[in-house]
Amino acid sequence: MPKTIKKLAVLTSGGDSPGMNAAIRAVVRACAYHNIECFGVYRGYEGLIDGDFESMDARSVRGIINKGGTFLKSARSKNFRTEEGRKKAFQKLQEAEIDGLVAIGGDGTFTGAMIFNQEFGFPVIGIPGTIDNDIFGTSHTLGFDTALNTVVDAIDKIRDTASSHNRLFFVEVMGRDVGHIALNAGIAGGAEEILIPEEDLGMERLVESLNKSRISGKSSSIVVVAEGDKIGKNIFELKDFVDENLEGYDVRVSVLGHMQRGGAPSCFDRVLASRMGVKAVESLLEGKTNYMVGLLNGNMELTPLDRAIKGKTKINLELLRVSEIMST
Ligand code: F6P
Repeated sequence: MPKTIKKLAVLTSGGDSPGMNAAIRAVVRACAYHNIECFGVYRGYEGLIDGDFESMDARSVRGIINKGGTFLKSARSKNFRTEEGRKKAFQKLQEAEIDGLVAIGGDGTFTGAMIFNQEFGFPVIGIPGTIDNDIFGTSHTLGFDTALNTVVDAIDKIRDTASSHNRLFFVEVMGRDVGHIALNAGIAGGAEEILIPEEDLGMERLVESLNKSRISGKSSSIVVVAEGDKIGKNIFELKDFVDENLEGYDVRVSVLGHMQRGGAPSCFDRVLASRMGVKAVESLLEGKTNYMVGLLNGNMELTPLDRAIKGKTKINLELLRVSEIMST
């Protein structure tokens, strides 16, 4: 029989993502529903080490489902990477008689949770919160959909000015080492080319293809570049190369940056956050530990944390083909 859980804690760690507040709310409310006390931990693992947490009731999370960021704040904790830091965190949890932890974040957050579980046998469940969509075991991470909408909105605006001036724009989007944001937002924003780390186009072929589009009658172009793409050293070097080798366009660069992580979560992310929060709490109550909750084929499923961390998310080849056909 699993140990009866009476108190849970929830934290957000790593880069924030839209929908984290909605997920915290879901965890707190699911705890209240099951008559469990819930503690909100401030500043991720850093706050856990310092004992910076407080009890939260259902009403304490009112009015946050629509807010971007995370009101619990987030951090990338160096101290939690040390055994000493993790020991302190365990002591703080024991002192408060907390029996389980829901950790919302990306692979760094899950690595910390997994090691913590291995060292102290402490029950943990992860909720994948990152705009990058780079976690195995879920078709969507929390915040990915909102970030896509933000990027598409930005591309639409850039296109207005690009077409007014017959310009070619390189638009850099986030995504760390993967191209999910670039590929999806690029298709939705009608980009002429999409450069992602999973597929190496090469500078010459890019220039060739842009030149072909120009000759076929395109007076302006948008190229979406994933930040992890390796085509040039960076987007400015890429811009210089194209500027020198392609006639007919004035070339500009727009790096979207951290605005992609902000803003009100989309409807999709709010529903996803609510489902993940409930699943995380109920999984811990069922005695499950060391898992991540995820969305697979429309259902809430559990994936062992080590698989979620090590497994690779694959780029959708059909989307790649669609993007190629759309840029004709
Ligand atoms: O993982 C989310 C993310 O926004 C990545 O897309 C990006 O590479 C990174 O975090 C930026 O991190 P920081 O906020 O530390 O600059």
